[in-house]
Amino acid sequence: MRLKLCYNKFAVKIYAHSLKDTEKIGIALGEILEKKTIVMLCGELGSGKTTLIKYICKGMGIVDESIVKSPTYTLMREYDGPFPIYHFDLYRLKNVVDLEEIGYYECIFDDGITFVEWADRIKDAYPQQYLQINIEVLNREKRIFEFKWKGKYYDELMKRFENTLR
Ligand SMILES: Nc1ncnc2c1ncn2[C@@H]1O[C@H](COP(=O)(O)OP(=O)(O)OP(=O)(O)O)[C@@H](O)[C@H]1O
Ligand SMILES: [Mg+2]
Repeated sequence: MRLKLCYNKFAVKIYAHSLKDTEKIGIALGEILEKKTIVMLCGELGSGKTTLIKYICKGMGIVDESIVKSPTYTLMREYDGPFPIYHFDLYRLKNVVDLEEIGYYECIFDDGITFVEWADRIKDAYPQQYLQINIEVLNREKRIFEFKWKGKYYDELMKRFENTLR
């Protein structure tokens, strides 16, 4: 795929020159995700969190990716994929009580896949093991996606992901 910028044991950075590159990255990741994966996304307003999730869902086989929309006001959206897909946006939430109210913990520990936008807003939103994607905006179309992770399953997942990028 020739997109990789650099990686070490603990992080992978991928440079996207365009929306098309973001699509390739998202699809490649979506194709290898297994149930119980939790993806925490961080990055400024309009950096591309929802857009990347849309393409990951496309890689998971969601044919009509237009159903994947920002849950900024609804707080959570759910899609039918090979597994249930939970899509959260923590932008308007404050603390663990808010998370409990929207059923956050039931979802992230369920047999589905969870995406969390603005994950870094609430420290208690982080489980012990997860994949985090930090998005840095370089200009209108260019982005750096930085992948960091914790846990054995994610070590394996990222090894597979790196192989697809070679
Ligand atoms: N390479 C790229 N990757 C991702 N998005 C891009 C890229 N180039 C341009 N864009 C555009 O940037 C915008 C990203 O918006 P998006 O809603 O995905 O951001 P967000 O991080 O989810 O914002 P919010 O913080 O409001 O939830 C879209 O309009 C998308 O088309
Ligand atoms: Mg969004």
